Amino acid sequence: MIALAALLGLTLAAQEPAAAPPPPTLKAPQQPIPYSHKKHLAMGLKCQGCHTNPDPGEMMGIPETKVCMGCHTSVKTDSPHIQKLSSFAKEGRDVPWIRIYQIPSYVFFSHKAHVEAGAKCETCHGPVAQREALARETDISMGGCMDCHRRNKANMSCNYCHEPR
Ligand code: HEC
Ligand code: HEC
Ligand code: HEC
Ligand code: HEC
Ligand code: HEC
Repeated sequence: MIALAALLGLTLAAQEPAAAPPPPTLKAPQQPIPYSHKKHLAMGLKCQGCHTNPDPGEMMGIPETKVCMGCHTSVKTDSPHIQKLSSFAKEGRDVPWIRIYQIPSYVFFSHKAHVEAGAKCETCHGPVAQREALARETDISMGGCMDCHRRNKANMSCNYCHEPR
């Protein structure tokens, strides 16, 4: 936090964030298991069936393997991908998914607050239900947050998203 406070000081003077996060990209990382949102959402599954947004509502969370095994103990058990999935489940380990949308821990962000304010998953994550593989396709940099706060007349002061100095 001391480092950030110093950064904040510098940035306030310059009125510009110091460095840019990775830009939006349509290139999806290679995941350990090729899970397809498109295939699974076409079956009528709901986002919050897997991304449960537990209290206090900051995180959406990535589902544990036991959620998958609800179906995959019997579905597609001949697939090598499903065999890999069940070996993670048997060992009680999470699949080491590569994260797509992630912001530094010094930024306050709450899914619950945004969903309650009427924001849709797709606004910040793109048309997930049409994607075989997810990539970071929207701007979740500070600039991206600010643009939407400006449009919605939401608070834009530094302390709203960062620890007060
Ligand atoms: C509601 C039941 C259900 C749940 C829950 C579910 N799946 Fe599936 N999954 C299916 C069905 C049915 C298919 C076959 C779809 C097809 O071939 O079109 C499938 C296909 C797959 C495949 C492709 C297998 C292959 O080689 O063709 C993968 C990988 C997969 N699921 C991973 C997962 C993971 C990871 C989870 C948990 C996050 C999960 N599934 C949760 C029903 C489910
Ligand atoms: C059957 C379970 C399941 C359902 C239903 C589901 N997801 Fe996912 N989701 C996953 C899994 C597994 C991952 C991790 C693998 C990946 O990134 O594709 C994931 C990853 C994500 C990520 C990237 C997280 C990150 O930062 O790494 C987003 C965003 C997301 N899902 C949004 C959605 C939305 C929006 C819906 C509804 C339209 C949805 N998901 C429905 C299982 C599910
Ligand atoms: C206002 C923009 C916004 C909206 C709306 C939004 N997200 Fe996110 N999402 C983010 C940001 C930013 C992150 C990175 C959070 C972090 O790293 O702490 C994220 C992370 C995630 C993750 C990764 C796991 C986690 O909890 O960090 C999943 C899964 C996810 N979102 C799913 C969803 C789903 C499902 C919805 C709709 C119910 C949704 N998001 C709505 C911005 C949004
Ligand atoms: C889709 C538009 C949109 C995007 C994108 C967005 N926000 Fe927001 N944000 C809002 C709105 C609207 C509110 C609600 C304001 C209110 O309730 O008065 C809000 C509220 C907040 C709050 C207060 C939450 C609370 O607990 O009361 C924080 C902190 C915040 N946003 C941080 C962020 C960060 C960080 C990002 C980028 C990663 C971001 N926002 C991206 C629209 C957005
Ligand atoms: C709406 C939320 C929001 C507000 C308001 C906000 N920030 Fe940020 N800020 C972010 C996010 C998100 C990041 C992380 C970007 C990333 O690295 O992905 C960030 C990152 C930063 C960084 C680190 C930059 C870097 O690359 O290391 C500094 C410094 C910073 N903000 C300063 C400020 C200052 C000064 C203000 C007030 C003028 C401010 N922020 C207001 C969301 C916000």
